[in-house]
Amino acid sequence: MDPAEMSNEENYAFDVAGYLHVPAVLSRSKVNALNQALDAANEPEGMLGWPTPQRELFRDLLLQPQLVWYLNQLIGPGFRLDQAPRLLGDHASEMGASLIGGDEPRNPSRAYFQQNGRRSAQGLKAIWALEDIAAEDGGLVVVQASHKSNVETPQNLLIGADEMGLVKQPALQAGDLFLLAESALQGMRPWQNGSKRLLTYSYAGRAMIQSNGPGPGAQVDSAPEWAPEGSPERAVLHKPGHKDASPPPVLNTNGDKTWVEESSETIHPSIYIRDPNSGIDENEFYFWDLNGYLVVPGVMDEEWLALANEVVDNFQDRVEVGSELSGSSKSQAGTGRPLLSGLLDLPDPHNAAFRRMIAHPAVVSRLNWMGASGYRTGGATVFCATEGTSGHSLHDGNEPISPSRGYAFKNGRSYCETVTITWQLRDVEPDLGGFACVPGSHKTQYPQPPGVRTCDDTMGLVVQPTMKAGDVLFFMDGGCTHGALAWKNSAPRRGVLIKYQSKNSNWSGGVIDPQERWGDMVEDMSEEQFAVMRGPERDGRHHTVPRLEVRDGQVSVSYDPAGDRYSAKFRKPGEKQS
Ligand SMILES: [Fe+2]
Repeated sequence: MDPAEMSNEENYAFDVAGYLHVPAVLSRSKVNALNQALDAANEPEGMLGWPTPQRELFRDLLLQPQLVWYLNQLIGPGFRLDQAPRLLGDHASEMGASLIGGDEPRNPSRAYFQQNGRRSAQGLKAIWALEDIAAEDGGLVVVQASHKSNVETPQNLLIGADEMGLVKQPALQAGDLFLLAESALQGMRPWQNGSKRLLTYSYAGRAMIQSNGPGPGAQVDSAPEWAPEGSPERAVLHKPGHKDASPPPVLNTNGDKTWVEESSETIHPSIYIRDPNSGIDENEFYFWDLNGYLVVPGVMDEEWLALANEVVDNFQDRVEVGSELSGSSKSQAGTGRPLLSGLLDLPDPHNAAFRRMIAHPAVVSRLNWMGASGYRTGGATVFCATEGTSGHSLHDGNEPISPSRGYAFKNGRSYCETVTITWQLRDVEPDLGGFACVPGSHKTQYPQPPGVRTCDDTMGLVVQPTMKAGDVLFFMDGGCTHGALAWKNSAPRRGVLIKYQSKNSNWSGGVIDPQERWGDMVEDMSEEQFAVMRGPERDGRHHTVPRLEVRDGQVSVSYDPAGDRYSAKFRKPGEKQS
């Protein structure tokens, strides 16, 4: 196949979302032939063993060249078929049943691995659309980024009682290929306009044990005869693929003796127990970790909203129109961004509606678990985009990593170094512009593609959350790729933006000057010595932090902003330091 490797767009899309839509892989005639074979057989499975010539069509699809090319990259060489092809949704029990997948608890035999440019989705469905499926047709549903969720899926999301705005039904054309990691949340929903044909093949990493086949090996036990039936010794001597191996026997012990559990449910203890007193709403925590943003509804009441809006109305003469920020986007181009900043410093009493935002209980309770106490903010600015204001090209994300601004999850805690909050003073309607982001981009290992940056080619990965006046949006500034779509609403945007930085790093401000930090101790120091006596400063924008260089055993000061870790050496082509 040509090119030799998947494009960065494809790598990024699969890494962010847990699935990849590859359009128009099969020709119309190939699709017709497959459909005719299915019509004739009138069976939803068993295709690989059907009579010739029908079975050849399905055996060809097993190793369709473009598919093999993808599987070598997404699963890894040596992949194999784990489950025979079948039509999705044909089992009555499948439709509307609980979603399956998600990465907590992790199932290593189906999980997604990525490190240092190597990757393996150990379980992967290749789903062939044999008919056109529109967005409202039902059938296959998925949850973007759920192959990397660190948090157990809420029960209401699993059973569909509360979709939390997360469940997507991909629109497909006949002949398309949809590659879906087994660890992504997925399921089938009732067909709305008659059932459609989605032919699925389940592949696995070469060593991964998933299911037994239907052949003779699976009809017999594998353990040696000397080990008595039901004994713990027999339980650990099973061999993969045989009858006694799927599900594998579950051993347990009380420290004195060992026995085989009747239930096949996995035993895998954790040293932690869930803390019901953590003060964290578990649905919020799941949503935050999954997506990189969170909307908390109804924080402001009508009176507060009216007051805040009135102030913004009255200070329109202070609105400054900044630059056009769409970054040469075709779809998001427009006029400059109008901002009214300095809200906390407005004359009394006009600042009150904004000053009560910065340490509000709804904010404090969440910032504490999102990134720990000790955060601080610099001020509040209201975004006043009018109809025709440009979008703001999407920026930031987990690649390249930014320790002072990124996201990590460890031992049940969210470590988000920069949380930005937007208080909505007006409704944010669907498809009329405003804040937009790429759910899951706070965990990606691939650089953001240009089409996502400009939103000219989003690959279906970008969301623009709808919100009501009084809602508060939290997002992982720096971790989650975010920006804004061009404003298309005749009512101007009214979002009050307040950034919080963690106690761990400094963007700017505070004690930086060596003299101020150390006093007389720095007297008569050389320029080189002076350079390392500064206080902490991230130096993201102004590039004034001096860098030290060593040449021929001599240390000297450089003011070249490219000469640091953010770094020419590690930077990818076209990537800007931010
Ligand atoms: Fe930003």
